[in-house]
Amino acid sequence: MQSLNELFGLSISEAEIFQLAEKVPEPLVGWYRENARVLPWRENPTPYRVWISEVMLQQTRVEAVKPYYHRFLAALPDIPALAAVPEEQLMKLWEGLGYYSRARNLQKAARQMMAEYGGQMPADYNSLLKLSGFGEYTAGAVASIAFGIPVPAVDGNVLRVFSRLLASGSDIMAPAVRKGYRRLLLETMPKDFPGDYNQALMELGATICAPNGPPDCGACPLSSFCRGYAAGNPTAFPVKAPKKERRLEEKTVFVILSPEGVLLRRRPKQGLLAGLWEFPWIEGFLSQPEVSACLEQWGIAAEKFRTLRPAKHIFSHIEWRMNGIAVLCEKILPPEGMTLCRWEDLETDYAVPSAFAAFKKAVLECQEEWK
Ligand code: ADE
Repeated sequence: MQSLNELFGLSISEAEIFQLAEKVPEPLVGWYRENARVLPWRENPTPYRVWISEVMLQQTRVEAVKPYYHRFLAALPDIPALAAVPEEQLMKLWEGLGYYSRARNLQKAARQMMAEYGGQMPADYNSLLKLSGFGEYTAGAVASIAFGIPVPAVDGNVLRVFSRLLASGSDIMAPAVRKGYRRLLLETMPKDFPGDYNQALMELGATICAPNGPPDCGACPLSSFCRGYAAGNPTAFPVKAPKKERRLEEKTVFVILSPEGVLLRRRPKQGLLAGLWEFPWIEGFLSQPEVSACLEQWGIAAEKFRTLRPAKHIFSHIEWRMNGIAVLCEKILPPEGMTLCRWEDLETDYAVPSAFAAFKKAVLECQEEWK
């Protein structure tokens, strides 16, 4: 096994790295217990509540997660409810959070727990790892916070805190480097309060040793032995390999509506936003004659057109640039593969991802005009 000093590109020895990491728990957890934000999943941290919150927090900031979390827990308060909920309703509850496969994996895991563990979460790290959607981070977070099992939960916050503490310039996106941090944490974390320790690291990374803007080193409980602080340049860490550029995709989005409702199309069962509803669109920015030809092919008789404000949506590796056109019709016969969603069902029965949020807003405006 490569030594940690080599892996982290440091001139101090591996023993010194361990000594530094061992200094962390006491002041950090002391700070956390004084300063932890009051968050809904921290009150009564049952395994189910911790699990749902951790999955939501993987893609969205704490403040934005809160309303989703409350809504989800109210509708699906436990594992049996999650296992049994119809997919359409699950997607609706997840609408706006993105990465919908995570919601599907939640349900798969709930069903595994029903089948294999009597509807309970297994209180064991390796059993958790086998469940759908559980990687090392989620299994570590649930095991430590809900069950008090001393395993790390290494997320971007933890990597930032530790790379600054050590002043390590190694690329934190490299799997070997991440494994190195995991090993360091596993061997130096406190055995009697692993959940608080993991959460304290995340909390420090989210509030003090923050990703954007300068860290608040004056308020940090670790600054007296932080090598990044001592070197005067904590923001030089962590080092990440530059991201690949996003692929740009251009689309023309059709908001086709009548007094009865709006036309929606279901996305393919596999891939990005699988199985969710969208406004029909065509690749590329279409000219007016191309728009007309397309409507003719769909058998749509337009009364009026409105050009909508262009919108964009950024996914992790793709960016959609969307021109939108509203097509107002007296009557719509849905072409093959599309559905006329009645106005009263739009908010309740159809999960439309936030990529289309701008057009969903436009629909409501056009509806007013067309009634
Ligand atoms: N980010 C993800 N999980 C978190 C937690 N449990 N506490 C603080 N920030 C987090």
